[in-house]
Amino acid sequence: MRHPAIHIVRPRGKLGVLLVGLGAVSTTFIAGVHAIRKGLAKPVGSLTQLGTIRLGKRTEHRSPLIREFVPLATLDDLVFGAWDIFADNAYESAKTAGVIEPALLERVRPELEAVRPLPAAFDRQYVKRLDGPNVKRARGKRDLVEQLRTDIRAFVRSNSLERVVVLWCASTEAYMTESAAHSSLAEFERALDANDDAITPSMLYAYAALQEGVPFANAAPNLGVDTPALLELAIERHVPVAGKDLKTGQTLLKTIIAPGLKSRMLGVSGWYSTNILGNRDGEVLDDPACFRTKEVSKKGVLDHILQPELYPDLYGKLCHQVQINYYPPRGDNKEGWDNIDLFGWLNYPMQLKINFLCRDSILAAPLVLDLALFMDLAARANRHGIQEWLSFYFKSPMHAPGLYPEHDLSIQLKKLKNTLREWRGEALVTHLGAEYYG
Ligand SMILES: NC(=O)c1ccc[n+]([C@@H]2O[C@H](COP(=O)([O-])OP(=O)(O)OC[C@H]3O[C@@H](n4cnc5c(N)ncnc54)[C@H](O)[C@@H]3O)[C@@H](O)[C@H]2O)c1
Repeated sequence: MRHPAIHIVRPRGKLGVLLVGLGAVSTTFIAGVHAIRKGLAKPVGSLTQLGTIRLGKRTEHRSPLIREFVPLATLDDLVFGAWDIFADNAYESAKTAGVIEPALLERVRPELEAVRPLPAAFDRQYVKRLDGPNVKRARGKRDLVEQLRTDIRAFVRSNSLERVVVLWCASTEAYMTESAAHSSLAEFERALDANDDAITPSMLYAYAALQEGVPFANAAPNLGVDTPALLELAIERHVPVAGKDLKTGQTLLKTIIAPGLKSRMLGVSGWYSTNILGNRDGEVLDDPACFRTKEVSKKGVLDHILQPELYPDLYGKLCHQVQINYYPPRGDNKEGWDNIDLFGWLNYPMQLKINFLCRDSILAAPLVLDLALFMDLAARANRHGIQEWLSFYFKSPMHAPGLYPEHDLSIQLKKLKNTLREWRGEALVTHLGAEYYG
């Protein structure tokens, strides 16, 4: 069935991408975009740049590129800015991260040196393993918000930008659950004025962005914008939001393999996941409070996919463990091991071992690009609140209260593509196929 297309404002002028945190992920993203712009590399891993979308029946052979089907900003339109607690520019920070080889880094050096981080809204209470000099001095949390809002406006003005998006790519904050201070916008603002500990730096950035009418996406697992209070603000200010925690390595594979095992009604009694990681993210996650935030994000996935309440015989006794060990020699080159204990017909046990030698920021950078472009698209399409169609990118997809999140990667991709089809007035693809058989 076809729907009338919705109006999407054409992208004009420059799109600012303001990154909270100028570490491994952010610099790999910025350096990659410049390398691609210069024809030095292809945007591998980016759905917005390489992905196609099938339209109509399979017999129609219409599969345009996504970026030609919906009006996305182009890579040439992007202007980068950042906040960080370290004053290193993006070139220096990329060198420290050690993800991109020096020869390629030199080719984009002037562009990276031009990205100098603004002083951060930071509090060690939420990230114990880090401390840095490039932080804002403020009279309190409300003052920090005002300074962040001033930064956003100045970034727009000084770069003559038409639009801007803010993405949290900063360190994972210590574990926190929702409390009264997050329950409504009024409570949040009271807590902000009282400098309540429940208001973390990621919430200050989110609040500042939303007040400026700027889309906000969270690449890390901390609450950030994912509270009733800030969702209320997103609706009030008519701004799209998305999160949380980019789905890159081990969890990406989990959300590909677990749905497959479940589709065949194979049982799983245990899933043991462990990682070694030596970058700054690994160092931050070495603190139990920050790891707890990540652990919750990583562990939710299997329960939702396998639905033990519906399949107690297959998944009712699942033992799921996740570890991250900080191991400096590996830097950004994470290695993950999964041992899956599964069982089949007559309960005969089997094992599956996965050893993923991946690169954390290489997997994350194209997702940051896609999110920046899709969040901007959502704003121009007049969408607001949670963008569930972007669940595809996240380990802990934000969702409406009372709903369970959709974690299966193939369903997430269908959801994303059908959303774009719907916006453009194309028939949704149901994969029914009945139309081909009279
Ligand atoms: N790489 C991946 O595959 C992946 C996947 C999912 C989530 N993430 C998350 O993305 C985030 C970034 O990862 P990374 O590898 O770039 O880490 P990183 O440590 O290299 O970079 C994070 C940067 O954020 C800065 N920072 C910390 N608190 C800040 C604040 N309040 N304001 C401004 N800057 C602040 C730090 O100084 C650091 O430079 C982490 O939270 C990580 O857990 C990464």
